[in-house]
Amino acid sequence: MINRLIASTLPLLPKRFVWLFSRSYIAGETVEDAMSACQTLNADGIKTTIDILGEFIHNLDEAEKNRDEYLSLIDIAQRTGIDGNYSVKPTMFGLLINAEACYSHIRRIVAKAASYGNFIRIDMEDSKCVDLEMNLFRRLKTELPENVGLVVQAYLRRTLKDLKDLMDLHTPTIPLNYRLCKGIYAEPGHIAFQRHDEINAHFLEDLEFMFRNGVYPGIATHDRSLVDGALALIDKYKIPRDRYEFQMLYGVAPELRRSLIEAGHTLRVYVPYGRHWFGYSTRRLKENPKIVNSIVKSLLLSR
Ligand code: FDA
Repeated sequence: MINRLIASTLPLLPKRFVWLFSRSYIAGETVEDAMSACQTLNADGIKTTIDILGEFIHNLDEAEKNRDEYLSLIDIAQRTGIDGNYSVKPTMFGLLINAEACYSHIRRIVAKAASYGNFIRIDMEDSKCVDLEMNLFRRLKTELPENVGLVVQAYLRRTLKDLKDLMDLHTPTIPLNYRLCKGIYAEPGHIAFQRHDEINAHFLEDLEFMFRNGVYPGIATHDRSLVDGALALIDKYKIPRDRYEFQMLYGVAPELRRSLIEAGHTLRVYVPYGRHWFGYSTRRLKENPKIVNSIVKSLLLSR
């Protein structure tokens, strides 16, 4: 309760304080910071997906700058030899201002990744974006089928139906490729399951649907019970190692991720970087108020 209270007031404090928490979950502010974090992860046998921080922009000039930053990132990461792909948040390209302009920007980014034989993941944002992001994905998947994937959120009541509806885009040679996560935004009960057990049951139901239909899932969770549930499904359906991967956030659950790598599973870490780390950090704080303990500890240690 106290952690929750502190978590909700921290965003009102000077950025310096929030940075004490953020620095463990963000590669840094620059592309060089991101390259260095990715190289360290790659050296441990971990693949990456790089995200430039930023979302919910207010004018389309920002969208163009963001697009150019991604185009440059892709050239730099490919030149550096990073073993990883890229994640984008459509509201960073003006999804809610002009969906057509957003599509053009992301299409250029996907085409750039495709020129290197690489891949762009479209992150899923809050519920007012879901239809728009599904449409965006549908269009891009039709045009560049090997180079784009989508995130789906297990807390949404609609997700299993969405997965079924999108199956027309699936072929055995170019399977659909999703990241399955719980979902991070605060949504009302009629849109999203609220209870931990309901969300987890739906997560495993969605995952089982993917395995039964040959879809490639990125299993994105740090929840031990979901990892165990996923491993049981992998065993049940005898899924080969190259037909799925686990995914985790930068700085979270290093022991769990090590145990998966040691067991021979593919692991990818989401590496966010950039100047706009404040919104990303405060959302994670609200989601996981338990982290407040470690912030208070670092505040005390930094005196
Ligand atoms: P849960 O929240 O139950 O956490 C399990 C345990 O993991 C916790 O007890 C805690 O110890 C640890 N943990 C989890 N999150 C932590 C954190 N931030 N800091 C420290 N410890 C933490 N969501 C979304 O809506 N759209 C998206 O596109 C994405 N993309 C995405 C990519 C990847 C690679 C991951 C792993 C997650 C996302 N998410 C996301 C976020 C996701 O929806 C979810 O909010 C978080 O992963 C937390 O859920 P868990 O499944 O880890 O379970």
